[in-house]
Amino acid sequence: MRQIQIDRFGGVDELILREAPVPVPGPGEVLVRLQAAGTNPIDYKMRDGSSGAVRGLTAEDFPLVLGREGAGIVESVGEGVGGVHVGDLVFGVLPFGRAAHGTPVQGCYSEYALFPEPSLSIAPAGADVIPLAGLALAGSTAWVAVHEQARVQAGEKVLVHGGAGGVGQLMVQLCRAAGAEVWATASTRNQDRLRELGATPVDYTTTDFRQVVPPVDVVLDAVYFDTFVPSLDQLVDGGRIVVLPTLADTTPAKQRGIEVHIPAIHPMPDELADLARRINDGLMSLEVSQVLPLDQVAEAHRQLETGHTRGKIVLDLRG
Ligand SMILES: NC(=O)c1ccc[n+]([C@@H]2O[C@H](COP(=O)([O-])OP(=O)(O)OC[C@H]3O[C@@H](n4cnc5c(N)ncnc54)[C@H](OP(=O)(O)O)[C@@H]3O)[C@@H](O)[C@H]2O)c1
Repeated sequence: MRQIQIDRFGGVDELILREAPVPVPGPGEVLVRLQAAGTNPIDYKMRDGSSGAVRGLTAEDFPLVLGREGAGIVESVGEGVGGVHVGDLVFGVLPFGRAAHGTPVQGCYSEYALFPEPSLSIAPAGADVIPLAGLALAGSTAWVAVHEQARVQAGEKVLVHGGAGGVGQLMVQLCRAAGAEVWATASTRNQDRLRELGATPVDYTTTDFRQVVPPVDVVLDAVYFDTFVPSLDQLVDGGRIVVLPTLADTTPAKQRGIEVHIPAIHPMPDELADLARRINDGLMSLEVSQVLPLDQVAEAHRQLETGHTRGKIVLDLRG
């Protein structure tokens, strides 16, 4: 099979296309023949070594395969797997860290990948594999942020920073589905998308959000750098803020006694299957702005590194 490996942390030139043996599923594992893989900012942060997810890896852990999510057909299952079957169309997000046998969990920039069974959801009949491949990581993050950490309620006011991005688009829609009123920020070219998602758009390139957004119950911040501290002034007493980048410094919120969270995703196969059904039925949208072949993964990383991709970039592995 073909896969993209890195031999060390570094720039996009470290992403190398190689042939590799197809792995064999161990107990509780599922081998998926991937049709598509989602890309995420965590991928370039793992590639350059800056992500907490690769802390503790040593030279012996390379080559490493990046890519945390994907969709495809179950090829074979290990001992004890009962919920998914050979031939099922599934999608999922891989855990971080090491597998049971001690080596790092290898990623989805690959024609086949091993998933622990709880990390997979069954796709709805007729699902389009491209958005499906980009759903699991962003969907789990949005679900944790909106429902578990911010606990968004009907009638509440919510501000989403980065509403047109991979996670932002889902956070806006989950808040709207929960009955909240939503303001969202993006640059000029993405204002239409924010409106489509059901948010009142705010163009951060022309407008200071503090001038146009009322006090809110919840801020969901997918950006952090120039948005986090100013957003603290936007919260009502008892407000909650969720900031996405895992290395965000939340001290300024804690010092002011403001409830603050950083999402830590966990397996949620049923919730993700529900999101996939809603997308399949046209009740929600997951925009994929670009589809690239596996050998152009470096281009996906270059774009993600700008911090200005819209929706998701997905690798099509069917070629
Ligand atoms: N904690 C976790 O488990 C977890 C999970 C997933 C992601 N994350 C992190 O969350 C962040 C967002 O992830 P993502 O996948 O949604 O990223 P993404 O798809 O790259 O989103 C980028 C979006 O942010 C917008 N943006 C950039 N600067 C902005 C600003 N100053 N104000 C408002 N919007 C701005 C961009 O819109 P314009 O192009 O219009 O500027 C773009 O659409 C990343 O740092 C990622 O690593 C954390």
